[in-house]
Amino acid sequence: MSKDTYILGMETSCDETAVSIVKNGKEILSNVVASQIESHKRFGGVVPEIASRHHVEQITIVIEEALDQAGMSLKELDAIAVTEGPGLVGALLIGVNAAKALAFAHGIPLIGVHHIAGHIYANRLVTDMKFPLLSLVVSGGHTELVYMKEHGSYEVIGETRDDAAGEAYDKVARTLGLPYPGGPHIDRLAAEGKPEINLPRAWLEADSFDFSFSGLKSAVINTVHNAEQRGETIAQETLAASFQASVIDVLVTKTLKAAKQYGVGQVLLAGGVAANRGLRSTLEKEFGALDGVELVVPPLSLCTDNAAMIAAAGTIEFDKGKRGSMAMNANPGLDIESF
Ligand code: KG4
Ligand code: ZN
Repeated sequence: MSKDTYILGMETSCDETAVSIVKNGKEILSNVVASQIESHKRFGGVVPEIASRHHVEQITIVIEEALDQAGMSLKELDAIAVTEGPGLVGALLIGVNAAKALAFAHGIPLIGVHHIAGHIYANRLVTDMKFPLLSLVVSGGHTELVYMKEHGSYEVIGETRDDAAGEAYDKVARTLGLPYPGGPHIDRLAAEGKPEINLPRAWLEADSFDFSFSGLKSAVINTVHNAEQRGETIAQETLAASFQASVIDVLVTKTLKAAKQYGVGQVLLAGGVAANRGLRSTLEKEFGALDGVELVVPPLSLCTDNAAMIAAAGTIEFDKGKRGSMAMNANPGLDIESF
């Protein structure tokens, strides 16, 4: 019988300080997340300097809590996996340095993980991955379609050319006067309204799986301003529903097309925007009608930033024999295809 693997994951790329221990890449023993949303809310977005300061304050407490909850000590760990990039450089540095310090002081192997690989591997904490597969990654910083032929192999077949889906949600929410992060508020309002305003869909070239959301965002802002100039107001619910309909239409249509073209048997949803109820239900409806493709949608707590997903992706790298060195640095531009 092969030995069990215990990996501690660490995630500090944006505004969550998170540490988790995962057994064999699949079983969560602890998953601690200290969110900073309250501190950034009054600025309407994440302030990098504030994020770094919070990570410094929280990281050792969160590490201890994750070990406590799992009932484990550092010497029982097989490796420490940490988000190396992409993300805010000052925020990433806190996690990378904490991981290096622990690894060095206790002689534990160190593994660098790509944040998006983590989001995708959140799915392995829910079900087994079946290859080849396609993952739709929609977060505050990324919108990507990633094709995987096997564990640890990532091919980006489409990505955003401007704003990420979550970023568009947050900017539109701001225009509507909603608090940060705006995604959940738009989602709630969209369910109460009808998509009566015809907003643009950026399909791009016919064979492209890339995305673009900045034109849509500008169209919403223009619609609001034009109405204001005429002395009219458009119901927030109508704007939210119309915006959401455009985002979902493009995301779902491109994902369906890619799934068929690449002949995948599984489609994984990943990233914070995966929490969107409209997106989840449309994907479920469309993929429910498509034979031979299994759709996996993780629970909300695993869609937003967490460290269990980093430990899960790190386990794959550990099994492949990858080890990080003490020269590891935060890498805000880390490439998923070659990390
Ligand atoms: O993956 P994540 O936690 O952080 C990044 O790696 O970026 O994603 C955060 C993003 C934010 O833009 C937030 O507004 C969005 O996910 N989000 C949503 C919903 N819940 C969170 N967007 C749309 N609908 C939601 N229900
Ligand atoms: Zn993320």
